Amino acid sequence: MNKYADQISQVVNDLYNQTIDAELTRPEPRFGDYSTNVAMRLAGPLSRRPRDIAEEIKAKLDASGVFSEVSIAGPGFINLKVSAKALDEDLNEAFAGDLPYGNNNDGAGKKVLVEYPSTNMAKPFSVGHLRSSNQGWAARNLMLATGWEVITDNHLGDYGTPFGIWVVGFQKFSNEDKLAERGIYELGDIYIKTKAAIKEEQAQGKHDIEDEAQQWLLKLEAGDPEAVEYSERFNKISLDHIHHVMGRLGISTQYEIGEKFYAERGKELAHELVDKGVAVQNADGSIIVPLEDYGIKTPILILKSNGAALYATTDLATLIYRDETFHLDRAIYCVASEQKFYFEQLFAMAKKIGLKTELIHMWFGLIDQINEDGTREKMSSRKGVVLLEDLLDEAERRARENAKSDDISDADIKKIAVGAIKFTDFAADRRTGMLFDWRTMFNLTGYSGPYIQYAAVRVNKILHDNPEIPPIDDTYDYQAEKEVILKLLDYPNIVKQAADNLEPHRIATYVYELAREMNRYYENTPVATDEVAPGVKAARLSLLKQVAHTFSHALNILGIEIPSRM
Ligand code: ARG
Repeated sequence: MNKYADQISQVVNDLYNQTIDAELTRPEPRFGDYSTNVAMRLAGPLSRRPRDIAEEIKAKLDASGVFSEVSIAGPGFINLKVSAKALDEDLNEAFAGDLPYGNNNDGAGKKVLVEYPSTNMAKPFSVGHLRSSNQGWAARNLMLATGWEVITDNHLGDYGTPFGIWVVGFQKFSNEDKLAERGIYELGDIYIKTKAAIKEEQAQGKHDIEDEAQQWLLKLEAGDPEAVEYSERFNKISLDHIHHVMGRLGISTQYEIGEKFYAERGKELAHELVDKGVAVQNADGSIIVPLEDYGIKTPILILKSNGAALYATTDLATLIYRDETFHLDRAIYCVASEQKFYFEQLFAMAKKIGLKTELIHMWFGLIDQINEDGTREKMSSRKGVVLLEDLLDEAERRARENAKSDDISDADIKKIAVGAIKFTDFAADRRTGMLFDWRTMFNLTGYSGPYIQYAAVRVNKILHDNPEIPPIDDTYDYQAEKEVILKLLDYPNIVKQAADNLEPHRIATYVYELAREMNRYYENTPVATDEVAPGVKAARLSLLKQVAHTFSHALNILGIEIPSRM
């Protein structure tokens, strides 16, 4: 990844005939630009003092003339300094490569399916699927940036959808006008009310509403025109809503193959697995797959005793279908931590049936909110779950309120609102909970989306105001730009690590540090004012172009757009 690391590995090989991957870290600037611990790592295998090894490596590195300074610190750290000009040349070389700067080809020739946000059709889009949307989209982008062929699929929760319940409830509690006005929000309410009514009648030993709902399902299966009309209409309302909200978040998927599609095949597969001796049919008719050989005591239930499909039945068929249809090397399921055990079981079953696809549950923690009084609790609203559209509306309202001027366009306000929400999602490792705090989300001086967007807008503005870049002064030393250059040089490795570990927060941390570095830089260095000589101005502007590229590449991975003005 880094030519200096390669050089050190080479020196180690020449000196000791040892193969070692010399990873470089970035020490505090006063110690050096890069630092390596190879001497300590070699001490054991060579049975020698790390300090002596470091001395020998230092001598070789000094002789190479590549470093402006090589020094040894502590027990045997080797610190390296490179001239700013040489680093700038490294950067230009990396930018001149075939791939966009930041991309790599690690996934070349391989195919991955990324699954998100997998919303449920019965209810309006809520914050329950916010993180799958954000993290899943980022996973998609990380895979694309690292050369994978990517397929995306919204695994809709549409099975056992409340079709029957919707129709009965619509006729009992609602009407055309309300439905036309409130769409999925009306259907969501109908669903809740009808469910409650069914519970109530059950308590009285009755089941009229339930039977009626069942009748509608049978009618639909028999192709009854009225039932088909209802079904198509309700499904369209739900799907249009899902697309609309995904649009507001700036995400999409190529496929949306829901659970319903897989149910029948899943039931067949369950029986086939029994025949093959992989699954076991219990006395009550239910079918399970024992997973003890895979270290899991609880078997996975793949068919109910009444022969009906359940969640795992549809997922069994999904596994097979995806493998056969897309020939995947990897599948990433972006689903909350609550389903961790379920996916452990599912993936163990996949192994047991011989599936070769690498399966990853890219899980994330729950969303907490900070209340006005500073207390922390699971995110909720007076009505219960927080609807995503309410959240987006509120974010837009606050973005508007915080805007410095009145003539920021609506399109830019939307980008700021979504940027603030998304950055919050990536602010920490996805495995920790997401902490939603309206008071800090829009902070233009802190760790927030808008802070970074503002830094990107600023670079873009300078470049926009200086469209002509004169010839660069070849003798310029880039001393003032050294930290910015070093930061930019780190980027490809950050993308690699974020992709390898499916950790988009690494991109967020990086892009924040870049924004901070840029602000520091402007404070000390005039870029495009008249006091700067044209050849130096040119050098600075061409570096800013590289900064602008890096901002937009990184924010694009996170699904955060850069406003045209802020
Ligand atoms: N719709 C499900 C839910 O909201 C998530 C589906 C996850 N994907 C899967 N293949 N099971 O909980």
